[in-house]
Amino acid sequence: MKFLKRTYNCGQLIASDNGKKVILNGWVHKNRDHGGIHFINLRDRYGIVQVVIDEDASDLLKKTASELKFEYCIAVSGVVRKRPPEMINKEMATGEIEIAAEEVTILSTCETLPFMINEKAEAREDLRLRHRFLDLRTEKMQKNIMLRHEVTFAVREYLNNLDFFEIETPTFIKSTPEGARDFIVPSRLYPGKAFALPQSPQIYKQLLMVSGFDKYFQIARCYRDEDARGDRQPEFTQIDIEMSFVDKEDVLKLIEGLMQHIFSKTISITLPTAFKRLTYFDSMNLYGTDKPDLRFDLAIGDFTDIAKESEFSVFRQVAENGGAVKFINAKGCGNFSRKQITELEDTAKIYKAKGLAWMKVTEAGLDGGISKFFKDSEKSIIDKIKAENGDLLLFVADTWKISCASLGAVRNKLAADLNLVDKGKFEFVWIIDFPLFEWNEDEKKWDPAHHMFSMPQEQYLNTMEADPGPVKGELYDLVLNGYEVASGSIRIHSPIIQKKIFNIVGFSEEEAMSKFGFLLDAFKYGPPPHGGIAPGLDRLLMIMCEENSIREVIAFPKNTAGMSPLDSSPSELSKQQMEELHIKFIE
Ligand code: AMO
Ligand code: AMP
Repeated sequence: MKFLKRTYNCGQLIASDNGKKVILNGWVHKNRDHGGIHFINLRDRYGIVQVVIDEDASDLLKKTASELKFEYCIAVSGVVRKRPPEMINKEMATGEIEIAAEEVTILSTCETLPFMINEKAEAREDLRLRHRFLDLRTEKMQKNIMLRHEVTFAVREYLNNLDFFEIETPTFIKSTPEGARDFIVPSRLYPGKAFALPQSPQIYKQLLMVSGFDKYFQIARCYRDEDARGDRQPEFTQIDIEMSFVDKEDVLKLIEGLMQHIFSKTISITLPTAFKRLTYFDSMNLYGTDKPDLRFDLAIGDFTDIAKESEFSVFRQVAENGGAVKFINAKGCGNFSRKQITELEDTAKIYKAKGLAWMKVTEAGLDGGISKFFKDSEKSIIDKIKAENGDLLLFVADTWKISCASLGAVRNKLAADLNLVDKGKFEFVWIIDFPLFEWNEDEKKWDPAHHMFSMPQEQYLNTMEADPGPVKGELYDLVLNGYEVASGSIRIHSPIIQKKIFNIVGFSEEEAMSKFGFLLDAFKYGPPPHGGIAPGLDRLLMIMCEENSIREVIAFPKNTAGMSPLDSSPSELSKQQMEELHIKFIE
């Protein structure tokens, strides 16, 4: 089909193009008839430009202009002309000019839209996802998807310059143990057998190290059959990385450099040369979470020693029985109402706190709540915890973990309620020295905290089987603004250590061989010491775009119910497909 093919795009014409004859293609963003003069805002991926059909234009041109509706795809030929000074629009990149149309042709029409493309207000999410191809036309989605491209390009640029190879790994694999549930692909050729989709390329990237590729990366699709939440999708993308002959410091430095490169290249932000670090213990102890948002302070303090001496029996008993009494000083919140405090208490209770005790700091001393129990020593308490007139002190007494975790949630709620979070701030922090094992109370056994291939720290190698609890691993997470954006470890390359780990987590030799014998086999042939990490691309982008959900940075995501309103998947299989795959669904 012949059509008026564009010679310029809609975002590039400026005052110095005055007088040029141009052809533009795009969509009708707006169309206004000002008493015989038509103004059309023509939009494409590059921008918006104003097209004018003057009063003295031909009847045909005027007729075509009057037929245009939102989102018609059109071609315009005309001449660039400067706008009169009073008509200049500083908000638009092309705001100094307009196109005096000579010909307009309709390339395709558009039905009544399910929602407006040219308005900031968003439609219901399921409607947006149902018509995602239209939703992706909106300015916001165009920007988000463009940034996604720029970030992946920056990743490739940075890693390529450091001699990394981009290598694809299979997506039909034998299930790898990453902790979540696998998506399964039944085999037609092998009745009763199935492939799994990879939860990550973990084992394959380790095999590539055995193969001597030394520095690997992949923008890798990962599949995990878990509930979709704000920062989770059943299929998502990792910047998967693995390196040989490295230690933890090398991996952390590489990622700091990668993040600096991404942020400066794509959004012109200079990140610090080295990121903060917190041990897992300090992170939990000070912020009640292993993914602290460090854009605000409000650190958790310890009140256990003071509580031991107090007359408040709840606190004293917890303190004497090995628990912890923790507190947050909500600075300047002394004017909080009972209702506000109750809301905070409700948040604490979600994290298993039995209550949220409080007192206010006034000029006269401690006041309200549990202050009556601390009257004798109020001055020294106020001094010790550096409280000031107008502060609100909030306490939880429980096990260390519950006290910290519940106050961590209260801390986040306070920050949101008090608007303490500066937009446009990016606070990275490494969390290191994680425990290698987690106690599984339901099954009364030790589980790997990350995955089974992570190296224990050297000082625990001889004691770990007898006492797994205190063992720390060569594990590291990168946290950004309260989200875990990357996770990795130095791996075990010694079959002896690997066996010990299997023993601790209750994996029999046979089970290990059947699940990943091929990795253990490979480790018999000169495996190099190696380690790696995988930043979650979607989460990183979500934060860079200041969105609350990773669905806003994925072109075609699943909804919160884990299905796609666009193509209605998952969908039923035909009888023939089921037969070919040798499967039957239980009714
Ligand atoms: P992990 O399971 O911690 O580690 O995943 C690494 C990073 O991927 C992101 N992520 C997700 N993003 C969106 N939706 C999900 N469902 C989802 N799950 C994880 C997070 C997370 O930090 N193989 C190891 C990495 C390694 O050891 O090298 C792994 O997959 O940002
Ligand atoms: P009570 O003595 O049960 O009336 O509790 C007095 C206050 O202490 C209330 O505000 C409770 O919410 C709070 N409280 C009770 N148990 C705990 C606890 N374990 N940690 C923190 N506060 C608590």
